[in-house]
Formats: sequence, structure tokens, C-alpha cells
Amino acid sequence: MAAIRVLPAPLVSQIAAGEVVERPASALKELIENSLDAGAREIAVHLAGGGAKSIKVADDGGGIARDELPLAIAPHATSKIASLDDLERVESLGFRGEALASMAAVSRLTLVSRRPDDKHAWTITASGDEISPPAPAALAGGTSVEVRDLYFNTPARRRFLKSEATEFAHCDGVVKRLALSRPDVAFSLQHNGRECLSLRAQPPGERVRTLVGGDFEAAALPIDDTAAGLRLRGAIGLPAHARSGRDAQYFFVNGRFVRDKLAAHAIRQAYQDVLHHDRHPAFVLFLDIDPRQVDVNVHPAKTEVRFRDSRAVHQFIFHALHRALGLSVAGGTPAGMPEAIAAPSFAAHAAFEPRNMRLGLAEPSAFYEKLFGRAVPATGNADDVAAAPGADAPLGYALAQLSGIYILAQNEHGLIIVDMHAAHERTTYEKLKGALDRQEIPMQPLLVPVVFTASALDVATAEENRETLRQIGFDVAPGSPTSLTVRAVPAALADADARELTSGVLQELRQYGASRVLTERRNELLSTMACHAAVRANRRLTVPEMNALLREMEATERSGQCNHGRPTWHQISIAELDRLFMRGR
Ligand SMILES: Nc1ncnc2c1ncn2[C@@H]1O[C@H](COP(=O)(O)OP(=O)(O)O)[C@@H](O)[C@H]1O
Ligand SMILES: [Mg+2]
Repeated sequence: MAAIRVLPAPLVSQIAAGEVVERPASALKELIENSLDAGAREIAVHLAGGGAKSIKVADDGGGIARDELPLAIAPHATSKIASLDDLERVESLGFRGEALASMAAVSRLTLVSRRPDDKHAWTITASGDEISPPAPAALAGGTSVEVRDLYFNTPARRRFLKSEATEFAHCDGVVKRLALSRPDVAFSLQHNGRECLSLRAQPPGERVRTLVGGDFEAAALPIDDTAAGLRLRGAIGLPAHARSGRDAQYFFVNGRFVRDKLAAHAIRQAYQDVLHHDRHPAFVLFLDIDPRQVDVNVHPAKTEVRFRDSRAVHQFIFHALHRALGLSVAGGTPAGMPEAIAAPSFAAHAAFEPRNMRLGLAEPSAFYEKLFGRAVPATGNADDVAAAPGADAPLGYALAQLSGIYILAQNEHGLIIVDMHAAHERTTYEKLKGALDRQEIPMQPLLVPVVFTASALDVATAEENRETLRQIGFDVAPGSPTSLTVRAVPAALADADARELTSGVLQELRQYGASRVLTERRNELLSTMACHAAVRANRRLTVPEMNALLREMEATERSGQCNHGRPTWHQISIAELDRLFMRGR
């Protein structure tokens, strides 16, 4: 091994910079936070090339004095805290004094600033380890920082940058999150000279409506709760409007957007009974807490926090949401809430009118026909088919549907109970798996392409992964910068909600990348797809449809297990039933 030596200063700063400036969006976040800390009322962002080429943030805040310009870009120099005590009750967004220094280390940075009393502005430039002395410049007021050619001197880092569209989408997300946290500040965003966002200072509700979408506001429950020094404000989406991705989830602690596992868990738990496991609630929540009760200095990017009393925070969030959700259900089913969600309990099922349970009221059996690409005997009738259970049909013949969840069938040994969602998910999953193995997932062109509004990140993901999407049976293309057009889906999933399905798949792709999704994450992907297509609880099936599912199960490998490892069917023998009723034979 070589001798131990101290690294040269520029290399040290380049290494450190990687933690703060992970990608253009993280530089942008730091710059906007500086503007907010400087008391800006208006912030203008100009990006070029997804931010990799240039990020410029101009504000009308307090500005920096000429003599302090070199300090601003010096590492560990800050005007925001001076002692440990300050750190422990920090209220500004920044405090580590390393953002500008980090950016200067790995880009060409220009800082122009003018304090209200200055006769003119001053500028300073920095790049790598070179720093110019302050020089006079022109600027009406406030501060303008430009970061050009990010990672120009660290090529290894540069190679990790994604496409321009993806990097821009991340930047766009940063601006939206910060804009949500400060509706009192005006924001504008331009990319490659085109205006993408322009927000004047506005009331919080209006800001949420503009950024999260009108459908969220219309289908959201207001939250405002206080307890023991904690306050939670904002709105949470109704379960029926949950999404397939986590894109509409915003959680702020003292105005700072954070990704917090504890809060996520509390929120998830509050929704537990009313939300399917692969759906994600929309929410915009602001937690106000005594700064001394929370540590924001966990990671250089400051997107994680640690609560002193994490139990209390968890309980508080959980109860606030649980109460709100409980009220919404007790107060009558909100419009548009499907039965499956509004009536999840046994009590609710029991209250169904008996005639609702009757067979034959079901939706047309064409549903299953399409699903399985196989004709279902139209004349099937419970009495006929159940009369002759035989070895040719190991899972027997359907008798009835129970509680909108189970299929009851009779075979030669006795009673078969099938969890219809799990069973359908399993058969679909195996079908997809077989098709992907043979590299021929058949595509089903949609008669009418489905167009839906999508986040910039989803649009970019679809664009980058077009080939992979084709491989798994999707034809998805951007319709505009904010919409996607789905022209074809895997034939086995033709009846699924194309939008939900596509979003679910894009989410996987974004999270794990195309190559992992097709290899180690393959089964997870297929199971996500299958789950989206599988028949939901409370869909009433006709006897022929139920029989079609039983036959499909028999034909499918491993149909005894659902994708999550739950069983899909269970046999209760006549002997067991006899024992139950103490019938001697
Ligand atoms: N837009 C701005 N307006 C006024 N002052 C700024 C601005 N950006 C940076 N500064 C000054 O530069 C210092 C260093 O900034 P930075 O490196 O981001 O560290 P931090 O924000 O953690 O203090 C800040 O403490 C602040 O005094
Ligand atoms: Mg800062």
C-alpha cells in the first residue's frame, strides 16, 4: 500500500461537493434556499440543458456586501449561525456554509450581489480552486448566482448525470417543493429560454391548487391539528383519489421539505384500512415544531431530519390523519369513493342487501372473456355445473361468490374457497412471466389511446425507456411536456386501468433503472403489473366467469400461491365439514 498522505485541498472540496451537489437539482435547491434565507419576495430561475449547462437564480433579497463576497464562497463560512446553540435552534434553511463553496469547486460560478445602500453591484467568480477578486458589476438589487458547466472538472461525476429531460424534471420538482413551502414568495422558472412556471405570491390554498392540481384540492380533507407544541396543517387526499406513484406527497418540517420515514410510516398507517397496499395517498402537510425538538443536520443535503421525541411525532401525525379520514367515512361516503374502499369491514359486508349477493347481477361476463381470451359458456348455471364434479376439474365448479371476495366451489372432495383477487393476480403474473421468458409479451393496441397528465419526471422516464417499455408490452410516448399517451398495453392486461398501470411501471423504471427492472427486479415488476390488472374486491362475477377463473388456475403453474406468497385457494373436505357438525358417518 502507498504511504498515507494528506489530499490536496481542491480534491478535498471536490469530494465534499459530491455530498451537497449530487446533481443540478441539488445545486438549484441550495441556491433557492439561500434566496429565501435572504428574505427574497421574488425568485427567478433560469436553467439551460437540464441545469447541467447552467443554473441561474436571481432574487430581490438583502444581498451580500462586497467584502463578504469571497467569504460567501469559502467553505464553512455562513452568516446564519455562530455557535452550537444557534445550530440547535436553527430556523434558516441553510446553516452549514458549504453550498456555494461546493458548487464553486465543481463548476464555473458567478455571484453578483448588491445591498440596498450600495452604489452598484459587485461580482466575484470562482471555478475549481481559482477565485477572482470582487469587481464592479450591474444589477438592480438582490443577488444573482449562476452555476455553469456543473462537474466540468470531475468527469466521473458528470457521467452520472441523466438525460437533460430527467435532470430538468428533478429541477422542476425542486422548484415546486420550495414554491409549495413559501406561497408568499413569487417564483418563475425558465428552461432553455422557455417559461415553465410563473407564480405570483398567493394564498396557500391557491398555491397548492396550482402546483398539486385541482383534482387534489377537490378531493382532499383539510388538516389543522395542534398538540403539545406540535402543529400539523395542510390537506390529505381522499383514499379514492390515491395514486399509483408517490409523486403527490409533500411533507415539510418547519417549512423545509423532507423525506422522513417516520412521517411516511405514520401517514401510511393512518390510511391502512382504507387504502390498497400499492396505492399512495396524496398529501401536502406542514409540521411545525420547536426547532430544538428536531435535528436537521443529519445529512449535507438537509432532506432528512431526526426528531427528539419521535414517538410523540408519529402518534400526533397518525392521530391527526386517522381522525380526519375517520370523519370523512362516518360522515357519509364521499362522492366517487368506490364500494371496495368505503366498505372494507365485515360489518359493512354483512349489511349488504341479500339480493346484492345474488349471482347473475354481475357485470357482463364479457369481462372475463376478454381477460382470458377464451369463450365462457354462456349457458352455465350453478346447478348444472356443480352437479358433476370430476377429476377433470380439480378445483371443481363454482357455487357462489362470498362477500365480494371469495369464490365458493365444489369438487369431489368437498368445498373449495378461492380468493379471487389473489388467484387472478397469480394467473396473470405467470402468464406475463412466461411471455417475457419467450420474449414476446403480446401488445394490445388500445382502440382509443389513453392520454393523461403526468409529472415531468414520468414523461422523461417514458422517453428514456421507450425500448424497455416496448419489450414489456407498452407503447407509451410523451404527448406533450406534461402528458403521456398510451397506445398499447400488454394484452394480458388489456382490462386494467391503462393510466394506473403505466404509472406503476414508470415508477419501477425510475426507481431501479431499466436494466435492473428487467433482471433482478423482473418479478417485482411483473407482479406490480399483475396486481393492477387483477380483479378487485366486490366485483361481482357470474358463475361462468368464476368457472373460467378456476380453469385458468388449473392451467397455471403455481397457482396455489399469490404473488405475495398468500395462498389463492383452500380446500375444506367433506370429512372436515362433518367433524365441524359432529356428523358421524
Ligand atoms: N442569495 C443570497 N442572498 C444573500 N446572501 C447570500 C445568498 N446566497 C448566499 N448568501 C450568503 O452566503 C453565505 C454562504 O452560503 P451557503 O454556502 O449556501 O451557506 P449557508 O446557506 O449554509 O450559510 C450565506 O450564509 C449567506 O450569508
Ligand atoms: Mg445555503
